Amino acid sequence: MKITKICCIGAGYVGGPTMAVIAKKNPNIEVTIVDINEERIAAWNDKDVSKLPIYEPGLAEIVEETRGKNLFFSTAIDEAIAAAEMIFISVNTPTKTYGKGKGMAADLKYVELCARNIAEVAKTDKIVVEKSTLPVRTAQAIKSILHNTGNGVNFSILSNPEFLAEGTAIQDLLNPDRVLIGGESEDAIESLANIYGSWVPQDRILRTNVWSSELSKLTANAFLAQRISSINAISELCEHTEANVNEVAKAIGMDSRIGPKFLNASIGFGGSCFQKDILNLVYIARSYGLNAVADYWEQVILLNDHQKRRFSDNLISTLYNTVSGKKIAMLGWAFKKDTNDTRESAAIYVADHLLNEQANIAVYDPKVTSKKVQADLNYLNTRTAEENNTLVKSYNDPYETSKDAHAIAIMTEWDEFKTYDWQKIYDNMKKPAFIFDGRNILDKTEMESIGFEYSSIGK
Ligand code: UDX
Ligand code: UDX
Repeated sequence: MKITKICCIGAGYVGGPTMAVIAKKNPNIEVTIVDINEERIAAWNDKDVSKLPIYEPGLAEIVEETRGKNLFFSTAIDEAIAAAEMIFISVNTPTKTYGKGKGMAADLKYVELCARNIAEVAKTDKIVVEKSTLPVRTAQAIKSILHNTGNGVNFSILSNPEFLAEGTAIQDLLNPDRVLIGGESEDAIESLANIYGSWVPQDRILRTNVWSSELSKLTANAFLAQRISSINAISELCEHTEANVNEVAKAIGMDSRIGPKFLNASIGFGGSCFQKDILNLVYIARSYGLNAVADYWEQVILLNDHQKRRFSDNLISTLYNTVSGKKIAMLGWAFKKDTNDTRESAAIYVADHLLNEQANIAVYDPKVTSKKVQADLNYLNTRTAEENNTLVKSYNDPYETSKDAHAIAIMTEWDEFKTYDWQKIYDNMKKPAFIFDGRNILDKTEMESIGFEYSSIGK
């Protein structure tokens, strides 16, 4: 099928950047991103591109170049669906918070709503592309909804999972390791392969069956998260044996079978995908009665929870077993550097543990607003919004944040943290002044020579 118009439902961290790059590389295709959230669409349409709802290095430039030419943001969902030959579903698929599979399974209600909406509106044949990460065999459900409309329209369903990582989304999209397309119809697969083919070499475009494609995405995220839990497990052992986790990571990473990437010990992984996708994998395995498989992957999450917990426990015990009434400065709130995304960020859980011990928390993150910090804590429902507001304050600079603090906890690996005047920070803190470096980004010798009591993960 010749594609002249694309519609993407969901203007989020995945839909926004992916469609911006498709539009840039395919000037003859009109790409419309639609979303039910009016505020979000208005932000995508803001003349001032620094106000886009998502921060990704390089994104604003591409939006500026393509918006209004062949990239459009709109809330007119039905019109965009009706006009397009190809529709991407890129809505969120959070972990279920109710009913069967609560806390484990993916909530597919938004995906189903999209399928029903497409079924209702479509008057011409469509290729429907699953972009959201979905449980294996979801395409079956989408197919059944679409094919039961009785209006004679032909639908082809493709799975095209997105592997971009936040903070490097544009680079990952421009130069992907691979693009994966799963489907039944060769014609539909080639229509999508042609779109990517305008910038991705053909040998990096993999064609598989739908189920392999869906399962590959869950598996890729599970393997990546597993590496982090593996190195984090070793980090705890390092702390008891005087081994240094960075040295261990380097030594094993030079084995070409292991490889050097994704071996940074940390306070634990966050982000919208790893935990959700592994829980989903565990749920699916259990639903087939594969308990050994489910237990194996579940351990990756348990170890990650343990890592976050032991970071806050260590902070509390080091501060003489009490943080009540003490100011703790948290540098970083985002789940990783170069993003304003805080979903599942370790900072939220560490803050929550410290708040249970009645600490006062001061937060500085270069891209996260005070409103977001409060919303993240309120979402946990551990205490009232008023209490969170009283106990947690956000600041616009690291020096104010750490003034009179008893300890600093580094939660995100923002590059700018390395450039601070640490002497000045030290001078304005309570003594002894502690740093708990959850990202191993500061130099131990330098920090100790200033006078800090410095500790980091796995050393
Ligand atoms: C997406 C996914 O869908 C998730 O499964 C995958 O793991 C990562 O990519 P992301 O783009 O990060 O998630 O989600 P989010 O930033 O929440 O964006 C989703 C958008 O869809 C939101 O703007 C929301 O308003 C919109 N939406 C949701 C709709 O337009 N319609 C709906 O019915 C539901
Ligand atoms: C991940 C996958 O990398 C991506 O392919 C998929 O499409 C979505 O999920 P993302 O969550 O955006 O991407 O970021 P990623 O770079 O994978 O980091 C996830 C978390 O792991 C972050 O909290 C990060 O700080 C942490 N991490 C990563 C470590 O703790 N150590 C590492 O070595 C790498």
